[in-house]
Amino acid sequence: MTQIITPDTVVEKETMFSSIIDNYKKTEEDSHILWKKVDQTKPTDFIQYVDKLTKSETIIELTQKSFERFSVAKGDKIIDLGCGAGKDLMALGAMTGETGEVVGVDLSQEMVNVASARVASQTHIRVIQGSADATPFPDNYFDRARCERLLQHVPKPSDFINEMTRVTKSGGKIAVTDPDWESSRVSGPESAEFAAITKAIFFDCKFNAHPSIGVNLKHYFKQNPSLSNIAIIPAMFTLNSLADANDILCLFSRADLACKQSLITADQLSTFKSEMIQRDQDGTFLFTLTIFTCIADVCKQ
Ligand SMILES: C[S@@+](CC[C@H](N)C(=O)[O-])C[C@H]1O[C@@H](n2cnc3c(N)ncnc32)[C@H](O)[C@@H]1O
Repeated sequence: MTQIITPDTVVEKETMFSSIIDNYKKTEEDSHILWKKVDQTKPTDFIQYVDKLTKSETIIELTQKSFERFSVAKGDKIIDLGCGAGKDLMALGAMTGETGEVVGVDLSQEMVNVASARVASQTHIRVIQGSADATPFPDNYFDRARCERLLQHVPKPSDFINEMTRVTKSGGKIAVTDPDWESSRVSGPESAEFAAITKAIFFDCKFNAHPSIGVNLKHYFKQNPSLSNIAIIPAMFTLNSLADANDILCLFSRADLACKQSLITADQLSTFKSEMIQRDQDGTFLFTLTIFTCIADVCKQ
């Protein structure tokens, strides 16, 4: 059932992500630090957040589409970098079968603990703690390497793409999925004032290291000479309720952050929220965001 939003319920619904986003620093340089510090902040909030996205239909569909293009065979070895609470490990393990091997890597020990418990029944799946740009595996160990919603948070995405390519053998594939946060759109008044507010919230307000990474993945892949047949699979996240937009894609938290960063005034923040609540109440609320998967063949000379 669709939840009716009032200013009070917004606050209640927002608490989980607000506690995460409050930690965001003002400067772009610092913005990648947040997801690096899961264990030092409130790990349960982060785990709940990734678990919430696990249930999103758009995420389920886009991951499924990327798996279809990934062409995993029984017996393959796969690495899932920044695997979080293990969203995709069981599905990958089903694709490789018990003759294969699936390794999840995450920087957060808390995420690793949760993910390990979830795959405990599968001896061919394991999860290790570490940074995904420096894994302990030899060159060409894996058939497939992937990561989902990781590169937006890291300081140097190229280092991670290079590491994925290093550990993947020639003839293998790598796949990266990330959003283009700057593609965020909401239905609202067709006025210059509202356009300026949404530009400040969706474009000027930086809340992670690489907000436009999704649309630039091809460019990053192209820099590695061992990657060929680079292809893009786009997916549009469409949310029809304000509750979901806040819960899943942090809409009001981002608006609050824009105000904190002095990109919009308190009055503009209030106007924005009122418009969103009004649209939600009259059934015309719409929020969209594009997420991209970039997939390529590994071809080493
Ligand atoms: C947004 S979550 C996505 C998790 C998972 N891929 C999913 O789809 O549910 C990003 C994850 O990357 C992890 N992370 C951040 N920096 C990392 C790094 N340098 N190496 C490995 N994992 C990292 C975080 O701990 C977090 O679990």
